[in-house]
Amino acid sequence: MKLPDDKIDEVRRTADIVDIVSDYVRLQPAGRNFKALSPFTNEKTPSFIVSPDKQIYKCFSTGKGGNVFTFVMEMEKVGFIDAVKFIAKRVGIDLSAYDKASVATQKDSPEHDALTFAAKFFHAALTTPEGNACFEYFKQRGLHNDTISQFGLGYAYDDWDRLHTAAQNAGIAIETLKTLGLVSYSEKAGKYFDVFRGRAMFPIFSTAGKVVGFGGRLITSDTDAPKYINSPESPLYEKSKLLYAMNVAKDEIRRKGEAILVEGYMDVISLHQAGIKHSVASSGTALTPDQAKLIGRLTKNVIFIYDGDSAGIKAMMRGIDVLLEQGLSPSVVSLPDQHDPDSFVREVGGEAFQTFAKAHQRSFLDFKLDVLRASDALSTPEKTRDSIRDLVGALLKIPDELAREFYLKALADKLDVGLGILQNEVRRQQSQLKERVRKAPPTVAPPPAKAREETHGAAVVPLLRETVSVAERTFLKAFLESTYHGSAVIEFAHAHLDLLDIRHAWVRQSVDFVVQRYAAAAESNKDFDVSTEITFLENAELRNFISELLIEPPISERWQTESAMNYARRCLTAFLDACSKLMLRRYDESLAENIARLQSEVSEEKIAELMLERNTLLKQKSEAKRELDLLGKNLVV
Ligand code: UTP
Ligand code: MN
Repeated sequence: MKLPDDKIDEVRRTADIVDIVSDYVRLQPAGRNFKALSPFTNEKTPSFIVSPDKQIYKCFSTGKGGNVFTFVMEMEKVGFIDAVKFIAKRVGIDLSAYDKASVATQKDSPEHDALTFAAKFFHAALTTPEGNACFEYFKQRGLHNDTISQFGLGYAYDDWDRLHTAAQNAGIAIETLKTLGLVSYSEKAGKYFDVFRGRAMFPIFSTAGKVVGFGGRLITSDTDAPKYINSPESPLYEKSKLLYAMNVAKDEIRRKGEAILVEGYMDVISLHQAGIKHSVASSGTALTPDQAKLIGRLTKNVIFIYDGDSAGIKAMMRGIDVLLEQGLSPSVVSLPDQHDPDSFVREVGGEAFQTFAKAHQRSFLDFKLDVLRASDALSTPEKTRDSIRDLVGALLKIPDELAREFYLKALADKLDVGLGILQNEVRRQQSQLKERVRKAPPTVAPPPAKAREETHGAAVVPLLRETVSVAERTFLKAFLESTYHGSAVIEFAHAHLDLLDIRHAWVRQSVDFVVQRYAAAAESNKDFDVSTEITFLENAELRNFISELLIEPPISERWQTESAMNYARRCLTAFLDACSKLMLRRYDESLAENIARLQSEVSEEKIAELMLERNTLLKQKSEAKRELDLLGKNLVV
């Protein structure tokens, strides 16, 4: 069964955008609204505003705006139905009855379908005679059946065409498999072949829990092929923005207020199996700022537990800087020699692992100092000076000034040097940084608008929010605001749309959209709510624009001076005001034209015609006025 509208409605009514957004950013009260650093970009001053009254958000840095559904769609990279389910789960509404049905009715992209198919195919292969060796491999590595299922592990047959033959039989296009890197084409043989063969398969899930790619591990050691091969990047799989197992770890990370970061698929899986469920893996790639941000939405505290080999140490040294730059607070746990998290947790068990981790957790600063000491980088004054420069460089990345000072002081103590020396070094590096910025070639600015117009001949009016006239902007703001206080304005706008003479396409589209969605809602006896409806606006620019109008304070002086009246009444007044401006603008223009023509006309017949037109115009104008007055009277709140 399809997810019914009233269930979606229930989710909308129950979910509070402030709650949902708080899972991703730290909101601070700001008047009637909340503000935060935008989750869509890197910024130092908060430009992201959430309105609890309207259940709308708007990011003034990126322009993005919308409601709780579009927010989750954007953050979790999912479609509308998945966003509804995600939010339902979060607010405790059970939609499981619609699960299978909506998978069938809500069409996924062909890529998602193909990935899901492949994951199921690989998983099913584990229980075939050919897959048995792989199943045994997982068992021998200590994995329980539940764990194998939870992580969707599988087996890719040691053959050239099993996956794509089965996929094609299921109606999946070979081109889709190729885009996803599941098959390759051999010019020599003139045919396609499966990329993953004879490997243990680790599906990689998005944060929202959809399969987006695979890692495939050799299960025998008698070949010199790479140990792991991984799906290539695709629109669904952006490696730099994803952490392995985040889909199953995020709730626990939030609850525990810390995340454990490991390197390998197997490390994460073993930790989860041992009950350490706040762990995720960077999967052998250098930690990226986007990955740091992904964790940063859940917690500031990140514990690196990488291999203790030189590659692992290097990766942590770099990873620490990346986390510091995103305002996170990294620390490190070093495991006993020759151990990685997987082997260690299997040897000692989950509880002892956590006890060990607590006892051996070092601040990033101690870790860095230990690494430098071990590599002789603090053995002579010259080497020490260079090391200090590196360390100060890392601390300079910390955005929070107080935290930075704190660590500088700690560093001075630990190295037994004066704080002044370090502060001098800070100043030196800061001025170097400024100098570099100053010397950098200026970024190429776009030619001024005038020059552009000249080169293109006639001026083209671009569809931008800046091109919406004040009158129309005021009108649309008032119109949208008024829709929260009853349907009369919508009906009025609907009845008089042709008289309203709206000139900017965006404003017209917005009114059309509201009118249409309102009619549809009325037909199926549903409440109408603009904040919710904007989910269904296909033009994202327009949605951003509408969100901005909804969230910004009143734009007309009159709104402020009439603040004694209640809010609904104020909206209505502003709406009527704006309507009359738009309506009368056209009559006034037509009347002016009519008079101009009357003055130059000589033919009696034409003059009579123009007089008639003039009368009609005047009548229409006063009718429109009367209608506006009537509406105003009927709508007194
Ligand atoms: P590891 O070699 O530590 O992997 O590499 P692991 O998961 O612990 O594997 P086991 O225990 O040997 O079975 C860490 C991560 O680096 C990536 C994988 O994501 C792996 O999980 N990697 C490693 C590759 O992508 N390709 C490789 O050839 C090796
Ligand atoms: Mn390992």
